[in-house]
Amino acid sequence: MENNKRPETMERITTKALADKFIEEQIAEVRAQVGDKKVLLALSGGVDSSVVAALLIKAIGKQLVCVHVNHGLMRKGESEAVIETFGKELDANLIYVDATDRFLDLLAGVSEPESKRKIIGAEFINVFADEARKLEGIAYLAQGTIYPDILESIKQAEGKKAVKSHHNVGGLPEDLQFELVEPLKFLFKDEVRVVGEALGLPHAMVYRQPFPGPGLGVRCLGAITRDRLHALREADAILREEFDNFGLAGKVWQYFIAVPDMKSVGVKDDSRYEGWPAIIRAVNTKDAMTATIEEVPYEVLHKVTNRITNEVEGINRVLFDLTPKPTGTIEWE
Ligand code: XMP
Repeated sequence: MENNKRPETMERITTKALADKFIEEQIAEVRAQVGDKKVLLALSGGVDSSVVAALLIKAIGKQLVCVHVNHGLMRKGESEAVIETFGKELDANLIYVDATDRFLDLLAGVSEPESKRKIIGAEFINVFADEARKLEGIAYLAQGTIYPDILESIKQAEGKKAVKSHHNVGGLPEDLQFELVEPLKFLFKDEVRVVGEALGLPHAMVYRQPFPGPGLGVRCLGAITRDRLHALREADAILREEFDNFGLAGKVWQYFIAVPDMKSVGVKDDSRYEGWPAIIRAVNTKDAMTATIEEVPYEVLHKVTNRITNEVEGINRVLFDLTPKPTGTIEWE
């Protein structure tokens, strides 16, 4: 655990100048560590893996191989943004894998939340390992580990129970045990964002709200079906767009839609219309251990309700979740 402790002399990275200094140091360190060998990275498009990718592209260019696995549970436009930023603008060595069918076929009929999480986590590793086996000469695995992850695993090693099983690319099979490159492992989230901006990543990517590894899989409640997943993705995109329009996007910590596996009777175009409800969740928190509800103005709620019920096939009601954490967790599953 000795080299897993943030050095006491390490200054908090709060400015661009400090971020630039950190970036220069990490570039030198990574180059010294990997030499002319290749490094593999699972690039989810989340803040941490994106910042690692940008940093490593700067340090070792095409020696970095990024794999973006689209598990079919991404939000609208998310995989496209990864391809645009990393594949096109930063000219990264990027492999894009559309594994939607693999995931959705495995998840068909599975309604128990922990089973869903375990299937998604394990299949993510399978898909990533399949890609890794096709590549030659990979010696290192880069990870977007940050300091809270290290503190959390220390806590778990001390026997404290996790509420939900989170997933990452730890746990690769035996034949793929690479040495790790973890340039952000002593940084807190706010520092990662400062570094990301200093690296020139888009603001929306660096200040992206947290998004769980299992993605929309834990928001398409119960057994996932393609039509309900599609409705959820469209409704969520509308919510995000309107939070942007009303200036709430940077103010609220996390907001999203969940769609349960139940229908209610409604009416549309003078006919009976059975549809799913879209549930809005909007919360604020410091550390995700507890959370309070954002008091979203009625004007916003009306606009979102109006748009979702008119624009999204299959949804006939919109509800607002008023439950803080505890007793609700932030996600519904
Ligand atoms: P809960 O639902 O436990 O969520 O109150 C707390 C925070 O963690 C996020 N979350 C995840 N993040 N992998 C992640 O990286 C996961 O499997 C996962 N599950 C939940 C959740 O969105 C919230 O911000």
